[in-house]
Amino acid sequence: MKVDCHHSAGSSRSPTWHPVGWRLVTPRTDAPWWRSGVVYQVYPRSFADADGDGVGDLEGVRQRLDHLEWLGVDAVWLSPFYRSPMADFGYDVSDFCDVDPLFGDLAGFDRLLEEAHSRGIRIVVDFVPNHSSDQHEWFQASRRSRDDPKRHWYVWRDGRGPGEPPNNWLGAFIDGGSAWTLDPATDQWYLHQFLPEQPDLNWANPEVVEAMHDVMRFWLDRGVDGFRIDVVHCIGRDPDYPDDPPPWSEIPHCASNEHPSTHAHIRGMRALAESYDGDRVLIGETALPGTRWVAPYYGRGDELHLAFNFAATHAPWDAVAWRRRVERLAEELDPRSAWPSWVLSNHDIVRHRSRYGGGEARARAAAVALLTQRGTPFLYAGEELGLEDATIPADRVVDPGGRDGCRAPIPWTSDPGHGWGPSPWLPFPPDAARRAVDAQRADPTSILHLYRRLLAARRASPALSLGALQLLDAPPGVLAWRRHQDGDERITLVHMGDRPVVVEWRGVVEVASDGVGEGDELRGHLQPDTAVVLRP
Ligand code: GLC
Repeated sequence: MKVDCHHSAGSSRSPTWHPVGWRLVTPRTDAPWWRSGVVYQVYPRSFADADGDGVGDLEGVRQRLDHLEWLGVDAVWLSPFYRSPMADFGYDVSDFCDVDPLFGDLAGFDRLLEEAHSRGIRIVVDFVPNHSSDQHEWFQASRRSRDDPKRHWYVWRDGRGPGEPPNNWLGAFIDGGSAWTLDPATDQWYLHQFLPEQPDLNWANPEVVEAMHDVMRFWLDRGVDGFRIDVVHCIGRDPDYPDDPPPWSEIPHCASNEHPSTHAHIRGMRALAESYDGDRVLIGETALPGTRWVAPYYGRGDELHLAFNFAATHAPWDAVAWRRRVERLAEELDPRSAWPSWVLSNHDIVRHRSRYGGGEARARAAAVALLTQRGTPFLYAGEELGLEDATIPADRVVDPGGRDGCRAPIPWTSDPGHGWGPSPWLPFPPDAARRAVDAQRADPTSILHLYRRLLAARRASPALSLGALQLLDAPPGVLAWRRHQDGDERITLVHMGDRPVVVEWRGVVEVASDGVGEGDELRGHLQPDTAVVLRP
């Protein structure tokens, strides 16, 4: 096992790579790729299984790049594939600079990166700065004695009294349990905002900052296009570790952690990323209660390039609720010239199709809303297939956080194996044969083809990819907006209500969520759970 990340794996690979695919060229603008692009999240365990062991792997991702190129995504974000005991399925990292054998090896990662780049697809990797695995050698050393040189790489405190943790913070995924665990070896408590197997790193220690910068350099040197940074708002903490006041004391501490030192740490990461050329992006997971909390993490153009905007994942299928969120995003982000992002699904939450009731019409209309909003959209693998969450029988539950349903394997083929080894790690999602990639590719009316048309429309239109957004007055139940840029213009209408409505806008239907009438003038009415993109 490697001792640290100081090494020159990247020396064989120039950090400056030049786009080969035509799709990397953003026409008519010098905006960085991550503003106009669409990012596709791959959860490696669930994506594609090349070696047939029932768990997805990096070679599986490489073999399925055809699908991603055909779909038309600009970048892939890979959830963790690093060495890990898998207490949190990879978000507990025991070596930040190596690939877990379950997923392949570093040479396999390099092959994937190279082939993705040759197809014009960028690769963003997950960076998990807040914690390591308890099996990481740093923590193994840290827990050994109070005098170990690595002791203060983690957060150790005395309890308040016998059996009493240092404060009232709650950990995530441990059912109301404390964020502190007593380690009998040294009779002190260590902090873990997540599972006890995920001790928090101590970013107040400059040695930790330097070590984690080395991790970033390791992957940047290999040629990655940036990082999705896990719970980055958690890394700075009040050095006094005060109790959380109500109501925050009722929920895991990480859901409200806020400390000014975090901003300085993010500025450090940004400066490092910018010392490389090629628009390396920093995308922060700032899972805080709302846009007002998230906006400061863009800094003054010197912190995150993008912060996940989870507003839509909390919004019901309701035009008023969505409108308010779109307005709030502009209110908070525009004064900072910060570029928004949009997310409907990911590996931590119930897929949007299931959240919105399970029907395909709504999932399709939601895709139109996501892909024509102002901001960088994030797609979660399988949403282009209209997947719902899988039903997980009690004896197959594996995630302590209850997130197995959205992590069901992607069905590639309609035969019973769906392109996987004999025993996939989780059951397939409902209707897997009909929603498999091969079945949907053969059917031009499928939701998969809708996503592809939306991505193509977005790429071809400066208004849709980069333009300003203006909300429009619309009949009850309808969310309507106009996008415009350099004389290019589009209007999106999304009907979230339950009765057909008459709409007054005229224009040619460029994309329709149900595929009906594309290329024709809009007929003046809109059915519930449908959406259209109009061009003048
Ligand atoms: C983030 C990840 C989640 C993980 C947690 C702890 O929220 O998205 O999957 O469990 O951080 O790393």
